[in-house]
Amino acid sequence: MDDCSVENRVASTAQPAQRLWPRLRMERILILDDETDMIETCRRVLTAVGHDCVGTTDPDDALEKLESDRPDLLLTDLRMPSMDGIGLMRRAREIDPARPVIIFTAYATIESAVAAVREGAFDYLAKPFSLEQLTVAVERALAQRRLTLENQSLREQLLRTYGFENIIGRSAALHRAFEMVRKAARSEANVLVLGESGVGKELIARAIHANSPRASRPFVPVDCASLPENLLESELFGHEKGAFSGASALKPGLMETADKGTILFDEIGEMPQGLQAKLLRALQERRIRRVGGTREIAIDVRVVSATNRNLRELAARGEFRDDLFYRINVIDIALPPLRDRKGDVTLLAYTFLRNFTEGRPGPRGFTPDALGLLEAYPWPGNIRELRNVVERACALSDNEMISPADLPPHLVAGGMVGAEPPLPTAPAANDDTSRLTLKEAKERWIGQLEAAYVADVLRREGGNVSQAARVAGVDRKTLHRLLNKHRLR
Ligand SMILES: Nc1ncnc2c1ncn2[C@@H]1O[C@H](COP(=O)(O)OP(=O)(O)OP(=O)(O)O)[C@@H](O)[C@H]1O
Ligand SMILES: [Mg+2]
Repeated sequence: MDDCSVENRVASTAQPAQRLWPRLRMERILILDDETDMIETCRRVLTAVGHDCVGTTDPDDALEKLESDRPDLLLTDLRMPSMDGIGLMRRAREIDPARPVIIFTAYATIESAVAAVREGAFDYLAKPFSLEQLTVAVERALAQRRLTLENQSLREQLLRTYGFENIIGRSAALHRAFEMVRKAARSEANVLVLGESGVGKELIARAIHANSPRASRPFVPVDCASLPENLLESELFGHEKGAFSGASALKPGLMETADKGTILFDEIGEMPQGLQAKLLRALQERRIRRVGGTREIAIDVRVVSATNRNLRELAARGEFRDDLFYRINVIDIALPPLRDRKGDVTLLAYTFLRNFTEGRPGPRGFTPDALGLLEAYPWPGNIRELRNVVERACALSDNEMISPADLPPHLVAGGMVGAEPPLPTAPAANDDTSRLTLKEAKERWIGQLEAAYVADVLRREGGNVSQAARVAGVDRKTLHRLLNKHRLR
């Protein structure tokens, strides 16, 4: 490096650099090179334009400093006797992926420098370089660093509202699920979220995405139950212009939209079999083909699926492809139903109450009677149902406290057992259920309870499915499914 030219230009670049990039603190730069002269020159130049510089000739010492001094930028030689610059860059990026790296290289090794940039180096400088080249590259790298950190902090602010904090609950069961979400979010593994209708499966899927490295890319939910097979296929994979009558223009599919992000296959248990095979192929090959197209398009999506059905059982019965089941179910997160989340009902009820009355007049709490009823009720529609009940109560109540009179009649008619409509009693130990495990007995009991509830709500709403679904706090589709499941047509 031409030392002289370096010194000459320090004065002229120092001011603009500082004016252009106002900083709250000095940015720290770590310089690694096996030539001490090189380190010294860079250090002098960069210190003169207002940076805090440390240098070392020892790659191991550099790695230690990357951890302890947390520099904002690493300048490193590409070829050193004890470690190559690319290896060091990889390690540096593991420690802090947001920290840019600039590689010094001799002309003879420019090809490797280009490879380094492809691997994530911010830039390279071919020796000998001028002061201007050095300072321009450094300022650009630091500007990018600032931008990345700013984005990160915005994302963290977003996470505070969209991360775990808006998934309310203090039950141990839910916190075990949160722990799984944290771990799953760090990985790229496909996740299957299990749980009854309205337990918060979509909320959990969003939290996984928001906490994952893909957070800044799209989150795309796909409802697998809402469309017939051919429409769902073109929704998922897109179609070329003229692929079928009505396909007047090319349309990219949701898998393409979700590229580099996360796709949620909601109600995956309802996906038609033909499409299951196509989806499996797409996930295995990480490529899709639009309907009516011949070109293969590479896609990179993280798959989260959700279902309220027992997929393992469906797979055993041949109603769901087991190869697809294993592919989507690398990590499973089971969300407990609300009736098993001891203590969460009151907490959720107060949270929803606050949401619905914020900034306007309305009730401020619940009477002990009302809370007792909420706690005793089995919540077949889970959190969605509770939310609707609280919303309704807020609209109806004229008093300071929500009382039983503001709750829907089926909730008031009784607590859990002996309620009106008559609820089934728990399977007794001396009938044919005596061989069931507690879990199986519970499932059967809850099934009976669900059937009784659905039949009753439909009867009360005069057979109007939309109205019954609204009262039950589930969507129409879910109610239809329950009607089929319990053969209540
Ligand atoms: N722990 C929670 N805290 C706050 N709100 C919640 C929680 N769990 C669920 N909700 C709310 O309840 C409603 C239902 O949640 P969500 O749509 O995620 O359920 P789901 O399991 O996907 O239901 P479905 O099976 O019917 O699709 C949403 O309004 C959601 O915001
Ligand atoms: Mg859902």
